[in-house]
Amino acid sequence: MAESMEGLKRTARCAEFTVEDIGKEVVIMGWVQKSRNKGGLIFTDVRDRSGILQVIFEEDICGSEVFEKAATLHNEYCVAVTGNIRSRGKDANTELATGAIEVEATALRILSEAATLPFQIEADTNTREELRLKYRYLDLRRPPLQKNIFLRHKLCIAVRNYMDEQGFLEIETPTFVKSTPEGARDYLVPSRVHQGEFYALPQSPQLLKQLLMCSGFDRYFQLARCYRDEDLRADRQPEFTQIDMELSFADVDDVIAVNEGLIKRIWKEVLGVDIKTPIERMTWQTAIDKYGSDKPDLRFDLPIEDISDVVKDCGFSVFKDTVADGGMVRGIRVPGEGHMPRKKIDALTEVAKYYGGKGLAYLCVGCADDGSHKCSFGKFMTDEELEAIIKAMGAEKGDLLLFAADKFTKVCAVLGNVRLALGKQLDLIDKSAWRFLWITEFPLLEWSEEENRFMAMHHPFTSPMDEDWQYIDSDPGRVRAKAYDIVLNGTELGGGSVRIHRADVQEKMFEVLGFTPERAYEQFGFLLDAFKYGVPPHAGLAYGLDRVAMWMAGAESIRDVMAFPKIKDASDLMMGAPSFVDEQQLKDLAIKIDTETIEAK
Ligand code: AMO
Ligand code: AMP
Repeated sequence: MAESMEGLKRTARCAEFTVEDIGKEVVIMGWVQKSRNKGGLIFTDVRDRSGILQVIFEEDICGSEVFEKAATLHNEYCVAVTGNIRSRGKDANTELATGAIEVEATALRILSEAATLPFQIEADTNTREELRLKYRYLDLRRPPLQKNIFLRHKLCIAVRNYMDEQGFLEIETPTFVKSTPEGARDYLVPSRVHQGEFYALPQSPQLLKQLLMCSGFDRYFQLARCYRDEDLRADRQPEFTQIDMELSFADVDDVIAVNEGLIKRIWKEVLGVDIKTPIERMTWQTAIDKYGSDKPDLRFDLPIEDISDVVKDCGFSVFKDTVADGGMVRGIRVPGEGHMPRKKIDALTEVAKYYGGKGLAYLCVGCADDGSHKCSFGKFMTDEELEAIIKAMGAEKGDLLLFAADKFTKVCAVLGNVRLALGKQLDLIDKSAWRFLWITEFPLLEWSEEENRFMAMHHPFTSPMDEDWQYIDSDPGRVRAKAYDIVLNGTELGGGSVRIHRADVQEKMFEVLGFTPERAYEQFGFLLDAFKYGVPPHAGLAYGLDRVAMWMAGAESIRDVMAFPKIKDASDLMMGAPSFVDEQQLKDLAIKIDTETIEAK
């Protein structure tokens, strides 16, 4: 029978008591972590969000009625215990923060009982994630998740304090907005009042924060909920939170300065870690050439080298023909790994193929038994040609050289990922490092094979670099943007840009993206209109807050730093969302479900 807590007031949380409190009468409230009955003694660990405190029921002290009640305690019963703090003396448990003390119980109230649990509430668990997510409220009782949620809270407070000190106003923006093209697929909300019409949930507050700059707020920030209907991964959720900001009268360096301060501050406040600033900057072109990625993991080296020039006339047709067709040949030198077993090289070849490569050519310098080279394309090459490659790669005897020949984007994807696989395989990554990096000067546009047109690489409101704007008609792919990403240990934490603030440039940008002026106006008219009435130059950036928290917590997935995350297919296993709705609800919205299509699936 559940009892009331009437007349009782909790003195403090379980783990807030120390040896200083010995002799005091206290009331604690929490959950039974475990309870052991040792004849005349019952030991009960009571847990709350602060930690665990041992309670001891001795029949002689608490009386038989309390003792009998204590004998019925099971895991996760919610209880209130009154008693006196005493020393555990030589029985102290050094594993437990409160291990030197215990509560000698005088009274017990069972506030509520607990049914048999679907899984035990323990720090380490091998319970399937699906089951844990179905009972997320229990999962969240586990200390590692409690710790993550605390950390996230601390992070949010640190962000708010810093932004406030820097003169940013926290302004909320709506979550029912207009569906706009570009970007990921929208989540839609049907309107009952305007049947047949839909709101979209915002993918980010991008346009609204730009409008706030038009309104003169100067510096805005928000911990903003964003929604994107895209394929989920370990660091992607359909709804997630951004640390979103926008600044007026600001250029790239202003945004970077504010954000280096923010990064320094939050790492110090949440983790006690000093991050050195200024953070290294690298242009997009350098990153992609040297590391095959626009978010390189600089915790280890292994740069990519181009040998197209060296092999353009060589005997290996794969290399020669690729260069002749406008592609390139690039390689990675892995120092001292020339004796890597064939099986491991094959595994790296599989990585190359997974990322669309046709193969991975290798050259083990001087690693054959007779001291010659072991090489997957040696039979097509003269000795001089091989030596030229070795020289170009700066290789020495005992090194492993890996090559990919393909179109630029393929070579980058293949070698970028082979490099990451090598980093893992050879254990080159310093797990304690915080390797921040700014990537700058992104291309403004990227060609979409799928849509057969240019798409904005960041978003359509990103400003081109002034010196490149002249190429917008003749060579749009050449135009770089005033865009930047902040990368940590090989993941994109955030990104942003200086915005276009001239209506004529914005209109031109829409034209390049394939919008007619009418269509651009229909979709983005409110922004174009706002730009007519005095718009300040402005710039901004947004971080994935969940990603920041994930790194800080050392978690494997952003699900571990979100209270109620969704699984890969975007469903919520606990609530059972999404779900079918009443016929009447659909009628109100004038929506008919296409059951044929659903059944065909
Ligand atoms: P962008 O689209 O790059 O920029 O997003 C900014 C950051 O948000 C995080 N993020 C995600 N996190 C979790 N799940 C997702 N599905 C997800 N998608 C993105 C990433 C990313 O770096 N409005 C612009 C910012 C600006 O220009 O100011 C924007 O949204 O960490
Ligand atoms: P093959 O002539 O098919 O035996 O290929 C010789 C070597 O070249 C093998 O190690 C292949 O993995 C590799 N290879 C084939 N195509 C490519 C390519 N496009 N880029 C890099 N290596 C390749």
